[in-house]
Amino acid sequence: MCGIVGYIGLGHDSDGNSFNHSAYDVLLEGLRRQEYRGYDSAGVAVIGDSGVEYRKKAGKLINLANEVEANPLPTSNIGIGHTRWATHGGPTDANAHPHVVDNGRLAVVHNGIIENFAEIRSELLEEGVEFISETDTEVAANLIASIYNKLDTKDLTEAVRVASNRMEGAFTILAIHEDAKDRVVATRRNSPLVIGLGNNENFLGSDVSGFIDYTKSAVEMGQDQIVTITATDYSIIDFDGNPAEGKPYTIEWDAAAAEKGGYPSFMEKEIHEQPAAVRDTLMGRFDENGNLTLDELKIDDSTLRSIDKIIVVACGTAAYAGHVARYAIEHWCRIPTEVELAHEFRYRDPIVNEKTLVVSLSQSGETMDTLMAVRHAQEQGAKVVSICNTTGSTLPRESDAALYTHAGPEIAVASTKAFLSQIAAAYLLGLYLAQLRGNMYKDEIQQVLSELQAMPEKIQELLDNEQQIKDLGASMKDAPSVLFLGRHVGYPVALEGALKLKEIAYLHAEGFAAGELKHGPIALIEEGQPVFVIVPSPRGRDSLHSKVVSNIQEIRARGAVTLVIAEEGDEAVKPYADHLITTPQCPTLLQPLLATVPLQIFACSLAGAKGLDVDQPRNLAKSVTVE
Ligand code: M6R
Repeated sequence: MCGIVGYIGLGHDSDGNSFNHSAYDVLLEGLRRQEYRGYDSAGVAVIGDSGVEYRKKAGKLINLANEVEANPLPTSNIGIGHTRWATHGGPTDANAHPHVVDNGRLAVVHNGIIENFAEIRSELLEEGVEFISETDTEVAANLIASIYNKLDTKDLTEAVRVASNRMEGAFTILAIHEDAKDRVVATRRNSPLVIGLGNNENFLGSDVSGFIDYTKSAVEMGQDQIVTITATDYSIIDFDGNPAEGKPYTIEWDAAAAEKGGYPSFMEKEIHEQPAAVRDTLMGRFDENGNLTLDELKIDDSTLRSIDKIIVVACGTAAYAGHVARYAIEHWCRIPTEVELAHEFRYRDPIVNEKTLVVSLSQSGETMDTLMAVRHAQEQGAKVVSICNTTGSTLPRESDAALYTHAGPEIAVASTKAFLSQIAAAYLLGLYLAQLRGNMYKDEIQQVLSELQAMPEKIQELLDNEQQIKDLGASMKDAPSVLFLGRHVGYPVALEGALKLKEIAYLHAEGFAAGELKHGPIALIEEGQPVFVIVPSPRGRDSLHSKVVSNIQEIRARGAVTLVIAEEGDEAVKPYADHLITTPQCPTLLQPLLATVPLQIFACSLAGAKGLDVDQPRNLAKSVTVE
């Protein structure tokens, strides 16, 4: 939800030789890497010899790059940049960031929503300020300018601090001023911001991808803090002006991990990274006796033993991973487990107390709905474990414990490898609790773990045979709708398959619990309706398998074209499958790690055949940092 970049370097030495990087180059590269966060418009501002200069354009980043090529910016060592996912005001040139105010002296970029912007706007109007856009960001920029101009000290950091206390909502704001060419000032409340430390140059980004090409040294900031970066230093204060400490860390992935690596899209690359994502998530979790150890899980054993309820909170694909995990956690740990969409959680007055373990699932670690749910749970006394893919992000930082998935950067808006690694991590958590609480024998846990460890190879096997699914996807590009059916863990897989199609192929798609069919949805079935069916293993509970086979017969009898995902050797489904996609054998609970993959490939191929941009689907952004 909006990508932000800030840069300052030493620039020119006393002889006028330039060193370090050009601000525009750094900003453009940082925005390119963060474009997945929003791509409605983009802009940059730098300070040249004659003050602040800026360019901004509606549409994707390429429009901005073309604009700068046609109308170059001055050489500069300081600047800020923004790639936008529109909240206030449509995606127009005027509403794009930066917003430059105070006779062109102050430039601001902003991520988030300033909830009391209307009130501040009226006050500024009374002061005689004129507005040219519809955005809350222009209000923030003018507020900072107004405070700055009233300060005897003309201190940009102080102006930003005073403004931060006046604004409500969620925001990350970066500001530069032509009178303060030695600094970029940034403030954050409930919105992401990280600092990058280089050699005689420093950076700011919504996430580390904003500066990954230049440094691996980063600093995490806390809530309600302001950072001032110069070319050689940084300092953090809180909103009261007290000095605060950042938390330095080293970025584990390199710039190459965030490139397409020969694939036509990030989504395809990330689908193919799933064996490694699951393998890396499982890696290093065992001690010399083969016991499961989750080193990051810093909640004491006695608290974990006393847990009498688990609530998983998450959104979108991450919530479906939670639904899958629920089946396993309840089965292994015998702890009642609920899964709740994070944005619904706190509005239903949930029953949460010290004995509740809340598990948040999030790829980005910045999803505002999930963060708010976690905070609500903590206020009620619950302990929170966050399963997250992004080191240094807000959710793990604010939780009592974090369990990292090691999927590497996920750039495509449609979540793929994060889903599989979230399931793997949640399963580790379930097994760990079962081990700690004595719900399972050691050999039972070992058995599941070794089956889990075999999954990357099986996922790879599926990927090696992807052509059949790609062809199927392309052949259905004109289908008006696709339905998905599943039971047990196959049900959330069906929901995930439908979500993938909706978000990247703009196609009507619905996932149903197969048992629900005859309670209504079967009326949707007409001649030629494509229906995916996720069939549980015939080697598992027979009732489950045979019920799904009956469901396939029911829909086929009514004209559905059946696309059946079943285990190798499942003879019973063959007569009823118009298209049969086989997956390697595995226990029922692990099946989502396989059955999801063909659905991802299908959606990606179908969207590609429709000529759509699978990495940056319309109206969406990778990380949703507003409620
Ligand atoms: O970063 P998160 O995992 O918290 O994101 C949650 C959802 O916004 C995300 O999974 C979304 O549904 C994806 N675009 C689905 O592909």
